[in-house]
Amino acid sequence: MAEAFDRWLPYIQPIAEALIDLADISKGQSILDVASGTGEPSLTLARRYGKKGISIIGVDGAEAMVVRANQKAEVEALTCLEFRQMKAEALDFENAQFDRVISRFGVMLFDDPLLGVSEMRRVLRHGGKMVIAIWSEFYKIPSLYLIWDVLMKAMPEDKQPFTPRIGGLGAEGVLDTLLEEAGFEEDHFEIKPFILTYRYDDFESYWEISTSAGMLKEPLDSLSAEVQADLKKKVEKLTLPYFENGEIVFHNEAILASCVK
Ligand SMILES: C[S@@+](CC[C@H](N)C(=O)[O-])C[C@H]1O[C@@H](n2cnc3c(N)ncnc32)[C@H](O)[C@@H]1O
Repeated sequence: MAEAFDRWLPYIQPIAEALIDLADISKGQSILDVASGTGEPSLTLARRYGKKGISIIGVDGAEAMVVRANQKAEVEALTCLEFRQMKAEALDFENAQFDRVISRFGVMLFDDPLLGVSEMRRVLRHGGKMVIAIWSEFYKIPSLYLIWDVLMKAMPEDKQPFTPRIGGLGAEGVLDTLLEEAGFEEDHFEIKPFILTYRYDDFESYWEISTSAGMLKEPLDSLSAEVQADLKKKVEKLTLPYFENGEIVFHNEAILASCVK
């Protein structure tokens, strides 16, 4: 996943920009990026504010992600930034150590989102800001859900994988409750939807990038070549309403939450 994941980065960069704006970073601040994956949004932040004396630590539970992120920081000589392997649910930092805590597309994947977000709040200083991006409900991410839905209908029930965690915090009110239970006061956070538009030149490129790695690949690979080909045809038909000026265009819904401790 660490290698394949980078193909998605251009698609999700707009939400990194929005997250960084909301984080309102200023000179000398210390920032923690939780579930930093292959390095974003930390790398963007380091390029932009590295000379303003900020320091960034990115943490991720997966070693391969951390290795890749550190390689990128090294290649660009981004010395204000380091990545460590660490689970969100057990942050090895002091209380109130950071001015800002950020996370893009990590929280909904945590084994224990409440513990993870409580930890993120614990290490944030009083008056500091936490900004997180998560995905909305799964069916509101049509670029993925379209294939997933056809795929599940093609699989025998006993072979179907669990519904991915990706949309687990996306339903109305779920994130609000989580933030309150983690200790943020009701009038200290704001939640708003954010649309990420994915564009593909043609069906083949959409199919290739969506199925060559990631959560669709494994269930798809478990099917025979014949069933896979049939499924691909079905998906191709379903993409027809998404064509705009010769491109396939999906409007995927994410959620941004900005919280003050
Ligand atoms: C979709 S990626 C997002 C990576 C990066 N923040 C980005 O936006 O490019 C999600 C990341 O969350 C990490 N992750 C999932 N559960 C975690 C946990 N409990 N603690 C730390 N990292 C976790 C995964 O290893 C993965 O790298």
